[in-house]
Amino acid sequence: MTDYTVEFVGTGESIEVSDKQTILKACIEEGIAQEYSCRVGMCLACSAEIVDGDVTQPAARGLTEEEAENYALTCMARPQSDLKLDRGKYPPSIEADAEAMDESAAAADD
Ligand code: FES
Repeated sequence: MTDYTVEFVGTGESIEVSDKQTILKACIEEGIAQEYSCRVGMCLACSAEIVDGDVTQPAARGLTEEEAENYALTCMARPQSDLKLDRGKYPPSIEADAEAMDESAAAADD
């Protein structure tokens, strides 16, 4: 078992996470305010952008392969190196969905 340092950019927070543990589980134990919902890699609520480092997240079904290179679903992701993560950053697919919803909400207001 190896422990890695996971730093959350812009927050000043960093925690030690074992390579056998999900980042979300470590956050909950350490009192870090990481958002989550499904905890099974589907909803993307727990997404963070990978600024530096590597994770393994074979069960992150909510991400495409390309997205999984740049984003971690913290409920599924385990560190493979020291990491820098930007919490609350979502892959382009979900941002596009959110924009489409905003536009339809704006259209409904007219
Ligand atoms: S909590 Fe839903 S994908 Fe992680």
